[in-house]
Order: sequence, then C-alpha cells, then structure tokens
Amino acid sequence: MNNNLLWILGAYLLGSIPTGLLLGKLYGIDVRKEGSGNIGATNLYRTVGRKVGIMTLVGDCLKGLLPVILAWKLGLLEPMQAWIGLAAFCGHVFSVFLLFKGGKGVATALGVFLALSPLAVLGALAVFILLVAIWRYISLGSIVAAAVMPLIIWFRPHSIELLIATALISAIVIIKHHTNINRLIAGTESKFKA
Ligand code: G3P
Repeated sequence: MNNNLLWILGAYLLGSIPTGLLLGKLYGIDVRKEGSGNIGATNLYRTVGRKVGIMTLVGDCLKGLLPVILAWKLGLLEPMQAWIGLAAFCGHVFSVFLLFKGGKGVATALGVFLALSPLAVLGALAVFILLVAIWRYISLGSIVAAAVMPLIIWFRPHSIELLIATALISAIVIIKHHTNINRLIAGTESKFKA
C-alpha cells in the first residue's frame, strides 16, 4: 500500500479509539447514555468527574497531536501533515469502532492544531476562554472557536491544504454541535460548573 495511505489509515485508526467511552466504562458508565450522550471530555467531566474529564481531554487531544508530530519529525511536509490531522479527527468523529459514530471532535482538533499551528490555537483558545468565562457554555465556546479557526489559518503563512483541512474540521465540529445549538437557542443548554 502507498505510504501516504498508510499514514492516513494509521491516523484514522488512532483517532477512532474512543477514549471517553473507554474511560467511562472503567468507571461503570456508558457515557453515551448519560448527560449530553457525547463521548467527549465535557460530558465525562459532567457525568463521571473532573479527573476523568481531564484524562479524556488529554487522551483525545493526543490522538490528534501525536500522528501530526510524528509526520513532521519524519520529514513529511505540511500538506500531508494536514491530511493526517484531518484523518485522526475523522477517526474521532466517525469511529470505525463505533459504527462510524463518535464525538464532536473539539479535543482532537485541538491536538491537530497544536501540532500544525500553535499560534492559531492561542487565538482560538482566547475566543473560547472569553466566551466560556462570560456565558459558561463549553459548546458555545467550541462552536465559535471552530468558526474562527479557518480565518486565523487564512491570515497565517500556511498551505492551501491546511486551510482546506481546517475548513472541513470546523464545518464538521459545528455540524456535530447541532443538538447543542438547538439547546442554546431554546435556553436549555447545560452550563459548565467548575
Ligand atoms: O466538545 C464538546 C462540547 O463542546 C460540548 O459537549 O457534552 O455539552 O455536548 P456536550
């Protein structure tokens, strides 16, 4: 098999590992049936506790970060790194181990962008922190941070491939938050309690 395809497949499989679901099961909880039903860090934090929420965040983030860093260290160029990051992200959102269901992709996207454009992450993180500090909705912070990410990448000296991958990741993150968007509009979204 072609080397590039192997990278994509490897990153997709790594991304497919459902960190939050597995951690929840360790604590006797199927997180898909609790809270928002999402397998991400916010719902683990909400339903199992702070420690497991943070572990999920780190685990999901590493699934995006590690393959891109490895690709970079082995000399692959940014366009290929971007596709590898997109593949890891798609693994998390459309996991082969969960019949192509999965999470909303925020933490895995964070890992991908930490590797590809740490400065852009700083910008998006500032937006996220500001919104969560004001309104206490993690989902709102995630949605708006995802929306600004392609704009930040656009203004940085990056490849067109990274811009395309970023636009796809952002669109998928926002679409995956459709139930959160409905709850935000209805005023029934749950607020983050530290
Ligand atoms: O990253 C997911 C977060 O933005 C919302 O999570 O569990 O409230 O749907 P949740």
